Amino acid sequence: KRIVVLISGRGSNMAALVDAAKAPDYPGEVVAVLSDKPDAAGLVFAAEAGIETAAFPRKAYGSKAEHEAAFVAAIDHAQPDLVCLAGFMRVLSADFVTRYAGRLINIHPSLLPKFPGLDTHARAIEAGETRHGCTVHFVTKEVDAGPVVAQAPVPVEPDDTPETLASRVLMEEHKLYPKAVATVLRNLSRNVIR
Ligand code: GRF
Repeated sequence: KRIVVLISGRGSNMAALVDAAKAPDYPGEVVAVLSDKPDAAGLVFAAEAGIETAAFPRKAYGSKAEHEAAFVAAIDHAQPDLVCLAGFMRVLSADFVTRYAGRLINIHPSLLPKFPGLDTHARAIEAGETRHGCTVHFVTKEVDAGPVVAQAPVPVEPDDTPETLASRVLMEEHKLYPKAVATVLRNLSRNVIR
């Protein structure tokens, strides 16, 4: 099965997917990595791994719709079974989300429905949470609110800063995302009507 990953920066979750997909029994491979930021570090990793990459900066397009159309063209060209958002920092339109319904997932650094949006680690500490974590979910037009595929909890330690907590969560993200993607890919094949 074919996976396209959308990133905006570091791309460590994308790299975790690329690495996991090297296992012979993994049900998919990353065939393209697309970014809205030409200088995203993850693009370098992907290119070095021999994966097709492309960047579509928002500034190069007159409207949000034209910008998304560039992504749609690149995604459809890659003919993916699944599109994975991994630190992709743009809110996608209802049209985009509908186009890939059931084939578009995201990883979010909180135990949704707690802490949708940004700065999740600081907010979890501020709220006095003792348990935090990450969630893989299907993308719907409501941000960070689609059906949950899988979650992984991590403890919040009394002396945590947003940074220490983020790195503990990120280690779990790197395990959870490849597992959740494999689950979704295996279920996709079951649902195909032939
Ligand atoms: C991750 O914490 C992800 O959950 C969030 O943004 C961060 C991206 O990190 N959406 P990376 O680009 O995958 O390294």
